[in-house]
Amino acid sequence: MKQRETWGTHIGMILAMIGTEVGLGNIWRFPYLCGKYGGSAFLIPYLILLFAVAIFAVMCEWTLGRFTRRNPLGAFETIKFPQGTKVGVWGIIGPFFLYAYYIVVSSWVLFYAFASLGRAYFKADAEAFFVNFLSSPAIFLVHIVCVAICSAIIGLGVRKGIEKASKFMISTLFILLLIVVLRAITLPGASKGFEFYMHPRWQEMWNLEAWSAALGQIFFTLSLGMGAMLIYGSYLKDKIGIPKNALACALGNTSVSLLAGFALFPATFALGMEEVVHKESIGLTFIVLPKLFVRMPLGWFFGFLFFLLLLFGALSSAVSIQEPSVAWLIEERKWSRKKAALFTGIILWLLGLPFILNGWAKGGLGTKLSLLAKMDTIIGQLALPLFSLLAVIAVGWVMKNGFGEINKNARYKLPLFFKHWIRLGVPLFISFLFISTLAKSIKEIFGFSVSESTLLMTFIVCLIIWGGFAFLTRMALRVEKEKEML
Ligand code: ALA
Repeated sequence: MKQRETWGTHIGMILAMIGTEVGLGNIWRFPYLCGKYGGSAFLIPYLILLFAVAIFAVMCEWTLGRFTRRNPLGAFETIKFPQGTKVGVWGIIGPFFLYAYYIVVSSWVLFYAFASLGRAYFKADAEAFFVNFLSSPAIFLVHIVCVAICSAIIGLGVRKGIEKASKFMISTLFILLLIVVLRAITLPGASKGFEFYMHPRWQEMWNLEAWSAALGQIFFTLSLGMGAMLIYGSYLKDKIGIPKNALACALGNTSVSLLAGFALFPATFALGMEEVVHKESIGLTFIVLPKLFVRMPLGWFFGFLFFLLLLFGALSSAVSIQEPSVAWLIEERKWSRKKAALFTGIILWLLGLPFILNGWAKGGLGTKLSLLAKMDTIIGQLALPLFSLLAVIAVGWVMKNGFGEINKNARYKLPLFFKHWIRLGVPLFISFLFISTLAKSIKEIFGFSVSESTLLMTFIVCLIIWGGFAFLTRMALRVEKEKEML
């Protein structure tokens, strides 16, 4: 039997992991959240939750992958997770739906990189330009190009494709980002933006919403619950120390988010566009940023660099979201990697079409992006924490020596206290994120009133608690049974 691939080099592995983490989430959403929730004060909830919660979820997903050396579905089966096949299937299907719209947004980035070079948006009204683009044939072309690039990278293999491409894309991204930051902070008047970003506004940090937003952002940016961390973890060599390397990747990812803020705030304030920092929607990225580049000296060039670095971040993430299903086809269906990459590429391309056709719908920007926004809430913000929670439970409760596996061959081992933290603290925090997002989404998506969503939430929370107890009782019974058999 052909041996399962692992990452070739240590630096290649680190850059591939950072590649899955760094993406659309870092460059736009992180600076926006900082602006909204207290400037640098937002870093407090962000860093606390990163180091206290999310980093352990990363370690658990890597560990589950490395221990089983299988795709997300196979991983849950191997450790005999209750209903493992049904649970694991979400590790294949969830990323599929996430990828479907993520790659559509990535293809907008590709278009805007070229549009910057050709100064296409320089004379047009930015919003009209974007709206026209959404219903133009060009969108089909860039979409298919992006899907083809990801499938080609995957088809080349773990080392020759994913690792090599991530090395190139992520190191170039760092260099381009530094150039863009340098340009932004040397613009006259940049210091006002600098102050807005770095001056802590403590009162805004004490809002519970800020903490829930921070946790949601961390989960998305660390690619948790997407099957990506799990499958990339399954390519880790046995000698790799998981705690230290998970930390290094999370720090690398955070540095990109921080740098993105240093590019955005000084530039927007220097060019008199402060209102930009208060706009979140991903669609608006493509309206306000072009306006910024139009006003900037040599804006077409910096616009190109910016969209190119964003494209590299987005594609390296998209590759990792496609890989779980490819690995599943290779391992369970015995397909060749090339065939699996081509097949998933075609399915993912088809799944992206509804989001593109939604852009052709009559109506304003809101209507054209409505499907994408809904999918982002359901998959991006709800399905991900849930799947990650299952991976943490798998390592904390189901695997016989999950904690030992996290520390296996590590020079810097996690102290024993964290075993209990992973079993109780981390799942509790993820459940909080899930419940708070659910409450917000019920209100947003279904238009329920606050009291109606509270009622529904209470029902769902009761169900979750009941499900949790049923699960733990089952686990306890199984352990008893095993003891009896010994
Ligand atoms: N982690 C990826 C991002 O932030 C999915 O875009």
